[in-house]
Amino acid sequence: MKKPYVYLTRQMPPAIVEKLEAECEVGMWEKEEQPVPKEILEKEIQTADAVFCTISDPIDKELINKAENLKIISTMAVGFNNIDVEAASKRNIQVAHTPGVLSETTADLTFALLMAAARRIPEGMEVIKNNEWGAWAPFFLTGQDIHHARLGIIGMGRIGEAVAKRGTGFDMDIVYHNRSRKSEAENEIGARYVEMDELLETSDFVCVMTPYTKETHHMINREAFQKMKNTAIFINSSRGGTVNEDALYDALKNGDIRGAGLDVFENEPISADHPLLSLPNVTALPHIGSASENTRWKMADMTANHILQGLRGEEPDHPVTL
Ligand code: GLV
Repeated sequence: MKKPYVYLTRQMPPAIVEKLEAECEVGMWEKEEQPVPKEILEKEIQTADAVFCTISDPIDKELINKAENLKIISTMAVGFNNIDVEAASKRNIQVAHTPGVLSETTADLTFALLMAAARRIPEGMEVIKNNEWGAWAPFFLTGQDIHHARLGIIGMGRIGEAVAKRGTGFDMDIVYHNRSRKSEAENEIGARYVEMDELLETSDFVCVMTPYTKETHHMINREAFQKMKNTAIFINSSRGGTVNEDALYDALKNGDIRGAGLDVFENEPISADHPLLSLPNVTALPHIGSASENTRWKMADMTANHILQGLRGEEPDHPVTL
């Protein structure tokens, strides 16, 4: 019997490819650091039974409707805003993602960003590299305390909770805003639910952890930045689209907030001339929230397992449902 055909939009290590090859014919875009060109994906999706994709592949309705045999789209990510799940569902194509496995790793990075921005770590390194380190000076590179500060988390999902847990180790006062109350975060972590305005107006660190949807598009806008404390530090490791970047730029430039730590941008990758990078109070990273070796291996393995499950006619362990 002919094996089903799976197309991988990014080069994967041999162990992952071999796992799929045991049950499938495998086609792969053989580059690890460059997304597959649209026209190649368009051609591949026409005949593929399964697609293994990443966050940088827009799997839109037009593409989905070209697929004749597709049974499952499995993304190596928790966020799936790049996939038209509704269009897939209409065609009975399953969608799977990788929640849970990356929460702790992404929370580590989020906290690293928070600390780097608060204590001006990238600026400190620049000073040394530029030979600008003079004598010890009383107020040189002074930043913001993390311990006992208020951490405001917008979006208390798995990653939000893991960030909150880290905050407790620093004796932070943790508040959150979410569509629904999270009793576990309240009872076990001691996070306090507050209205959005209170979170924005009183937090020392405002941390966005929501998925990117139509509702959260540019949720952090000019008005939101104006509500924040002038000393607030804004952290985003969810999706760039949740923030109006022009408003963020103005808020940082005008001193409406003190700094920002950003792992995500509205249009990725950004280039060196992106306006936000011209500001000294921005700590920026190239979307590496879940990028520990261990976690990325687990995500790749999980994505491959979902493909095999979908092709066997089973429900994947982590389906995306509408
Ligand atoms: C990465 O951003 C993810 O959604 O997993």
